[in-house]
Amino acid sequence: MLEPARSADIAGIVTIETHPSMDRYIGSWPRERHRRQLDDADYRYYVVRDARGDIDGFAIVMAYAPKFRWYELSRIAVREPGDGRGSDLLRGVLAATFDSEHAHRIQLDCYEDNVRARRAYARAGFREEGLMRDAVLRDGAWTSLVLLALLANERVAPKQARTAGPNAAEGQR
Ligand SMILES: CC(C)(COP(=O)(O)OP(=O)(O)OC[C@H]1O[C@@H](n2cnc3c(N)ncnc32)[C@H](O)[C@@H]1OP(=O)(O)O)[C@@H](O)C(=O)NCCC(=O)NCCS
Repeated sequence: MLEPARSADIAGIVTIETHPSMDRYIGSWPRERHRRQLDDADYRYYVVRDARGDIDGFAIVMAYAPKFRWYELSRIAVREPGDGRGSDLLRGVLAATFDSEHAHRIQLDCYEDNVRARRAYARAGFREEGLMRDAVLRDGAWTSLVLLALLANERVAPKQARTAGPNAAEGQR
């Protein structure tokens, strides 16, 4: 179940985002920056836990242009991608941001070659709005970012969660 993160959760968040398998998909921030953001009213930190209470995934949402109820999904990741738990987390974050924060628009950017994430976003109703060509350096190579957004009136009904994905074996444990 989605819950707001506490400062004690930062270690678990950093463990996921700095895992070597995440290098191709997301960036990472120093703990101090996470601490600052967690205390910043413009940021929302969410976590989901496994049965033992360890952090299974997290998402960071930023109020990008509050005047326009425009939010950014700054980061999302689960410990074991590919089995639908990240898509569940995404659905929870969208519900929280649209229903509790009354977002009008949620945007994000994603490495062009992150097919799994692009499919997860498409399934959640996101539309691709453009390509930011050679936007960032990744492993020394220029890489493009896809810009995606979902508007409040474009939300799609949650689909049944899959029980296993083609990448279910690729885990971090
Ligand atoms: C992005 C993320 C949150 C999505 O959550 P998830 O639970 O792994 O997603 P799912 O298992 O529901 O898979 C999403 C789609 O990708 C497909 N997929 C799964 N593994 C795949 C793979 N290795 N390659 C391509 N497609 C894949 C699924 O079949 C599904 O497609 P469908 O909706 O057409 O059936 C999760 O993969 C993750 O944490 N990835 C690492 C960090 C990351 O990329 N964050 C996003 C940065 S923009």
